[in-house]
Amino acid sequence: MFVMFLSSLPSVVLLFFVAARSVYYAFFHPLAKVPGPKLYAFWDLAFLYHLVRGEWPHKLKQLHDEYGPVVRYTSKHVSFISPGAWKIIYGHRMAGQETFQKDRLSYRPTMSGYPNILIANDSDHRRHRRLLSHAFSEKALRGQEDIMMRYVDLLMARLAEKARAGEVVDMVRWFNFTTFDLIGDLAFGQPFGCLSSGEYHAWVAMIFKTVKLGAFLEVIRRHPVLGILKSLLVPTELTRSHAEHWALSEQTAKRRLAGADMRREDFVSHILRHNDEKGMSEGEIIENANLLIVAGSETTATQLSGTTFYLLTNRDKYDKVVSEIRGSFEREDDITLLSVNELEYMNAVLKEGFRVYPPAPLALPRSTPPEGEYIEGYWIPGNTTVSIPHLAAYHSETNFRNADKFVPERWLGDPEYAHDARGVLQPFSVGPRNCIGMNLAYAEMRLILARLLWNFDLELMPESRSWNEQKIYSLWDKGAINVKLTPVPRE
Ligand code: HEM
Repeated sequence: MFVMFLSSLPSVVLLFFVAARSVYYAFFHPLAKVPGPKLYAFWDLAFLYHLVRGEWPHKLKQLHDEYGPVVRYTSKHVSFISPGAWKIIYGHRMAGQETFQKDRLSYRPTMSGYPNILIANDSDHRRHRRLLSHAFSEKALRGQEDIMMRYVDLLMARLAEKARAGEVVDMVRWFNFTTFDLIGDLAFGQPFGCLSSGEYHAWVAMIFKTVKLGAFLEVIRRHPVLGILKSLLVPTELTRSHAEHWALSEQTAKRRLAGADMRREDFVSHILRHNDEKGMSEGEIIENANLLIVAGSETTATQLSGTTFYLLTNRDKYDKVVSEIRGSFEREDDITLLSVNELEYMNAVLKEGFRVYPPAPLALPRSTPPEGEYIEGYWIPGNTTVSIPHLAAYHSETNFRNADKFVPERWLGDPEYAHDARGVLQPFSVGPRNCIGMNLAYAEMRLILARLLWNFDLELMPESRSWNEQKIYSLWDKGAINVKLTPVPRE
């Protein structure tokens, strides 16, 4: 009897430990008063389960619908969806207040060990941002207009060929070809040749292959013991693609730094011109160039894909934006970086596109300062992970009337939408670590959309009608938006 008791002791102790831990986190922990399902508060397994299945952002939206604008979804993660939370969590802080740091479990060191601007600590970040900001200034943007135009011209020419041949085109691919070619040229003075070949460059293809890897790695980071199962959990092909991606980035950046492939000014030239002893090392420049390719291309292409899909499934909005674009210019050459800013309805369409289909749908996690902080009326202890999930915030009826509908008019003063919490829409984030490429992204999106709708009538093919029903890993897992293009007849 006693021997039996002894042999079952470890399981009893384990059971007791799990039960005591669960009770503590659910009922006595300082976050116990924050709304949320108790099952989620015990551990992070429910969250990770939905994450690896590609359904977490949708699940979190449901939790916010059920529990309100503040939801605790693991023992130490809290999600907020009200506009006021942006400034506290991500914004510039007052003198004497500490900024919320990026959550270190999510923002991991790079493979080379050199930081890039995204994962850098605050002091490295200031150094990187100072140098990179030269490449993203107003003046630099004006200097980039010719290059942008070249790729938009090429996109129009390739689409016209496809239309003449009566081929249906997948707009997701063509937007990606354009933004990747452009960013390759802007970052390294070297396009990827996607538009000419009509195929993804190996580098670009690798980025898409590694999308799901992020979700698997998140699980392993949180439960290192599962690292033993890494080879089972993470498909070998994904790990290999990740390593290949990094090797290719390093090779391209090194060639550029050695002076090869330098046909004209690119992001690297801006960095090198202002680099000094307080600047960036070669390793940091390589890491940043690599980051810019990913951060600056897929995001913009995703936004254009989402906006196009919602326009094609809301024909009244499509007709309105088309008539604005075609009525605003006499010739195609009049569509410039400056003139597209004036397209009021199209700009509202792009904003609404960001809302219904945010290109970075996951939250950007931050840690509360060690002394803790009040956020939206709740005391959040130090080192808690807090964030604002774009998808849940933008699709919440507490923030937007008819939240699941595509209504550009809500950005143009329509009284029906007067009570929308418009300030919650921050697709580029806010504060010192917001998107450095926002103006470039807007310039690309406006030019591409205006030129596309100037040149072609678009019709969505039936097989793409439910395109928006997608899983989300680190990015949206997008299918094809198959479209029939008809060139607009002009003299
Ligand atoms: C629709 C397009 C885009 C969206 C929605 C977007 C969104 C974002 C967001 C939300 C962040 C904050 C990330 C975080 O806190 O972890 C960010 C950061 C960043 N983005 Fe973008 N982005 C877009 C386009 C671009 C472009 C075109 C570039 C450059 C070519 C770019 C470069 C960067 C960089 C370098 C950072 C890090 C900035 C820093 O930490 O100081 N992005 N972006």
